Amino acid sequence: MANSRTAEELRTEIKRLVGEYYQACFGQEAEESARNPVRSVRYAGRVFDEREMENLVDSSLDFWLTEGRYAKEFEKKFKEYLGTDFALPVNSGSSANLVALSALTSPLLGSKRLRKGNEVITVAAGFPTTVNPIIQNGLVPVFVDVELGNYNVMAEQARQAISSETRAIMLAHTLGNPFCLEKIMKLAEDYDLWVIEDCCDALGSTYKGRMLGTFGHVSTFSFYPAHHITTGEGGMVCTDDPLIARALRSFRDWGRDCYCEGGQNGRCGNRFTKQYGELPLGYDHKYVYSHVGYNLKMTDMQASIGSAQMDKLPGFVQKRKENFRTWERGFQAWKKYFILPVAEPDSDPSWFAYPVTVKEEAGFGRTELTEYLSRHGVETRNLFAGNMVKQPAYLQVEKRIVGNLENTDAVMNRTFFLGTYPGLSPEQITYVLDTISAFLKERGL
Ligand SMILES: Cc1ncc(COP(=O)(O)O)c(C=O)c1O
Repeated sequence: MANSRTAEELRTEIKRLVGEYYQACFGQEAEESARNPVRSVRYAGRVFDEREMENLVDSSLDFWLTEGRYAKEFEKKFKEYLGTDFALPVNSGSSANLVALSALTSPLLGSKRLRKGNEVITVAAGFPTTVNPIIQNGLVPVFVDVELGNYNVMAEQARQAISSETRAIMLAHTLGNPFCLEKIMKLAEDYDLWVIEDCCDALGSTYKGRMLGTFGHVSTFSFYPAHHITTGEGGMVCTDDPLIARALRSFRDWGRDCYCEGGQNGRCGNRFTKQYGELPLGYDHKYVYSHVGYNLKMTDMQASIGSAQMDKLPGFVQKRKENFRTWERGFQAWKKYFILPVAEPDSDPSWFAYPVTVKEEAGFGRTELTEYLSRHGVETRNLFAGNMVKQPAYLQVEKRIVGNLENTDAVMNRTFFLGTYPGLSPEQITYVLDTISAFLKERGL
């Protein structure tokens, strides 16, 4: 018998079932973990409810698949939250960084474009794909040291690192804590440098009341599940500059010159009338390529999750700050053993994590503690690559190193972090603090 229900009625019914499924599958999980004593503590994880699942299924029923109505909705919410004119969804934070730096090599920027051999100031204590686009574009990374405690660039060293080839600064706000924006932006102004803010770990952090990601020329975000919001894999690249926005879109979308959206034709009004490169007059603008680009777009399924996550973001940010403060209170008694994190003055970080460095004289090593925590079900992470220049991939890469990266080595050897993600409960934090206390007691400390 033919089904008499309309597509819309079926969609409504599916949505209801998805909500029911969420409760049956994940709702119970949450209830159980609330009842049972803490046995394991993750450092990060996706936090979601039926809204994300309903959106995901809804987008799959559209079967549009590639960037569509949910991407538009996500983009709009993101722009409103951040306060930038342009926000372009991409398929990861790493892609956001690649698109951001590549855009600055665009001929659209005239004499200001980055060219092969130009230098870009960055740090070695961080995540590899903040640095990789520099190398992938034939530019030279210049590594300067970081401060212990805030794990961000030493601004004075960045100034000393300037050479006649320096054209840009590309830095992450480490674990959500802003790098010294005043000094770095002044340096950029003094030497006419581009600034790319990698905000992959810093969505919702503010400096002097203003969102990170609105200070530099371009900013990037990651939505990998460990991050402030998630789309599974995903990222965003933002700017206020229309020319940079055009270059970003082109590099993201195969390098094409045309800025029509999927399914749209002839937005520029010159689809068959212009001459490009050495192509014949009137060659279809849809297939004109003005950059050597990629395809790094986000799917509409990912964007549908992102849109639901955006509604939760203010609450997530609040919870991260609260969790950070709980760690802070717990670690106060152990200042003898650990260098505790310090927020950049005048900032309000939306902390990605709670980083600590084991002091040289602590009487135990970082790995001894993190291994102990792991045996007791507590996840920790090192500060990503530690000292990147010592990683196998970077040994032979053309680079310049300023100073001896002494603190970066300390990060590599003695720093780790605990989670601040919104799914973390006060009971879990208490359990971790008790476990560290037991570790210290076992060593007579
Ligand atoms: C500072 C920083 N930049 C870039 C990335 C890359 O993001 P993704 O994993 O989405 O590619 C990460 C990843 O965690 C990161 O921490």
